[in-house]
Amino acid sequence: MNFRDAQSIDDLRAIAHSRLPKIAWDFLDGGAEDNLTLDNNRAVFQRIRFRPHTLIDVSKRSAKTEIFGKTFNAPFGIAPTGAAGLYGFKADTAMARAARDAGLPFVLSTASFEPLEEVAQAAKGGALWFQLYMAKSRAPVEKLVTRALNAGFEALVLTSDVAQNGNREYNRRNGFSTPLKLNLRNLLDGALHPRWSLDVFLRTLLDSGVPRYQNVSRDGNERIIDKPVAEFQERREEVNWEDFRWLREFWPRKLFIKGVVRGDDALKAQQLGADGVFISNHGGRQLDGIISPLEAIPEIRAATGKNFMVMADGGFRRGADIIKAVALGADMAFIGRPMLYGISAGGEDGAKHALQILRAEIDRVLALTGICSIDELSPDLLWHPDFVPVHAHR
Ligand SMILES: Cc1cc2nc3c(=O)[nH]c(=O)nc-3n(C[C@H](O)[C@H](O)[C@H](O)COP(=O)(O)O)c2cc1C
Repeated sequence: MNFRDAQSIDDLRAIAHSRLPKIAWDFLDGGAEDNLTLDNNRAVFQRIRFRPHTLIDVSKRSAKTEIFGKTFNAPFGIAPTGAAGLYGFKADTAMARAARDAGLPFVLSTASFEPLEEVAQAAKGGALWFQLYMAKSRAPVEKLVTRALNAGFEALVLTSDVAQNGNREYNRRNGFSTPLKLNLRNLLDGALHPRWSLDVFLRTLLDSGVPRYQNVSRDGNERIIDKPVAEFQERREEVNWEDFRWLREFWPRKLFIKGVVRGDDALKAQQLGADGVFISNHGGRQLDGIISPLEAIPEIRAATGKNFMVMADGGFRRGADIIKAVALGADMAFIGRPMLYGISAGGEDGAKHALQILRAEIDRVLALTGICSIDELSPDLLWHPDFVPVHAHR
């Protein structure tokens, strides 16, 4: 199937699956351990239903959403995904441009294969945020954060749920590790997926050699098949709220913590000067058995009040999912895998197609629920079997 014929994010997922070698597909689509978190992220949407208004003139509806004084075209953005370059040639640049052209925010991962400055330059004019993996030692973090500042990134998103790598057994079986192991089985699998091998792998090799984690390498030279740079890995388990306090002092622009799922932690983030949180379980890739972002939204909104930015990511595959999160109290939803499905299926145009699908779905849901503007969304629009009413947050 051509990506242009994809009617849904699920269609893009099927195309991506057919194009990618197993090692890359598993890394993209998998969760941790028994997929309890991953599956629940999706299952939750089935339990929440709409209570639409009827006989409303919706002809002038709009999905526009204001965040930090900027207007976006819809209440969602692109979550950070490391190693995105495995799924498309210069995938981060492609996603950042697709987001800019759709009028949506893009979060670049620390673990990008492209230097953050190049992505910022290529997607100039877009709302670019930078995701930070924090090391215990300050020097490399200062250096990286200063680069992000100088390159014009508007917000920093500190990922907080990575004290350890999640238990992803398939990665170990496949040899997906740092350093990456290129064994015979993986090379053969690559040969069986010629489109990926030529369009992504070979093109990247010819352009810039074996991919590197350009933002965390000491001198930009360590390849993904080399030993990792110790200074960014070491003492990850020690990172704590004191480090966040320091980061708040150091970074002058908007600051989020990603990986929060509890009201008390969100409140603490707020008290320490965060501008918002990303309610996230890392797309089910870290601890298995965490509540879904949707289950955490009401508690976090209630704990932090209405002037705090509450983002949510994990399992959003339909416009209706995004509208449910916003109605529950989130300011925006973020999507991870759907963009990589789009990139794998059709490069930058595939990523644009993924965004187009979601935007069209959002527009249709607004019409069918009798909602004309995002400000009208509240829990009143929703129903679920064990619904605890939370007062409208707006
Ligand atoms: C392939 C892949 C790589 C990811 N890399 C990062 C990363 O570098 N930093 C980060 O904070 N989150 C990372 N995430 C998590 C996403 O930011 C996001 O939380 C998650 O993908 C949302 O769930 P979804 O994929 O179901 O939309 C990654 C997710 C995937 C699928």
